[in-house]
Amino acid sequence: MQGSANLNLMIKAARKAGRSLVKDFREVENLQVSSKGPGDFVTRADREAERIIKQELMTGRPTYGWLGEETGETKGADPTRRWIVDPLDGTTNFLHGLPHWAVSIGLEHKGEIVSGVIFDAAKDEIYWAEKGTGAWLNESRLRVSGRRVMSDAVFATGIPFAGRGALPATLQDLARLMPACAGLRRWGAAALDLAYVAAGRFDGYWERGIQPWDMAAGIILVREAGGFVSGIREGDDPVQHGSIIAGNSALFEDFRKVIRGE
Ligand code: IPD
Ligand code: CA
Repeated sequence: MQGSANLNLMIKAARKAGRSLVKDFREVENLQVSSKGPGDFVTRADREAERIIKQELMTGRPTYGWLGEETGETKGADPTRRWIVDPLDGTTNFLHGLPHWAVSIGLEHKGEIVSGVIFDAAKDEIYWAEKGTGAWLNESRLRVSGRRVMSDAVFATGIPFAGRGALPATLQDLARLMPACAGLRRWGAAALDLAYVAAGRFDGYWERGIQPWDMAAGIILVREAGGFVSGIREGDDPVQHGSIIAGNSALFEDFRKVIRGE
C-alpha cells in the first residue's frame, strides 16, 4: 500500500478502532436476546473507538484540528487542517447485529477533503483515497460504475427516522426517483453508501440532513474513483450544508435533476 504519512496514520487508526469494534460486535450479537438489549454497551464501544482514533491521530499530528461525532470540535494550532471522524457509522446496524457499519476518517485541508479512509471491519474491506492518487479498496483500484441509463441504475440513500426534519423532502425525492430507476437501497451507513458509489456497486447516493463525519471520507473516495459530488441545492458545499448527492460521471446530471425536482 503506497500512501502518504498522513494516509498511513489514518489507516493505522482505522484498523485499530476496527479491531476493537469487531470484538464488541461479537458481544452485541449475543446481547440481542437479553431483555435490556445492547444499547449502553454500544454507546461505550462507539466512544472507545473514537478514543482510540483520537489518540492515534492527535499523537501523530498534534497541531491538527479535530471534529468527531462523539467528542465534537477542537480547534488546532494549525487552522488549515482538521480530522473529521465518525468512529462508528451505521450505529443502528451495529446495535442490531447487522454487519454493515464502518469507521470513517477524513482529512480536510483549507476547507477541502484531501484524504479519506473507510474501514468496513466486519468484512475486512478498507477503502482509501488521497487527492490525485486514486481510490482503492484493499489493494485494488476503484472506478465508479459505467451505467449510462437511469432505468438501469441502483441508488442508495438514508431515510431520516423518528421525525427528523428532512423526512418530507426525502419522501418527495423517493416519489420522483423510484419510477425512474432500477432500485433503491437504504442500508444505514452513509460512509459505506459513498464507498459503494466509489466501488461501482451503487450508481449514486444522496441524503439530506447528514453530518460532516458521515460524508468526509466518502467524498474524496467518490471523486478519486472518477465520480462527482455536490450539495443537493445548487452551490451548496456538502460538508457545510449537510446534504449530499454523489454519482457516476455519466448519470450524475440526470440523477441530480430528479433529486432537485428540475
Ligand atoms: C447515520 C448513518 C445513516 C444515515 C444517518 C447517519 P450513525 O450515522 O450514516 O446511514 O442515514 O443520517 O446519521 O448515526 O450510524 O453514525
Ligand atoms: Ca454516521
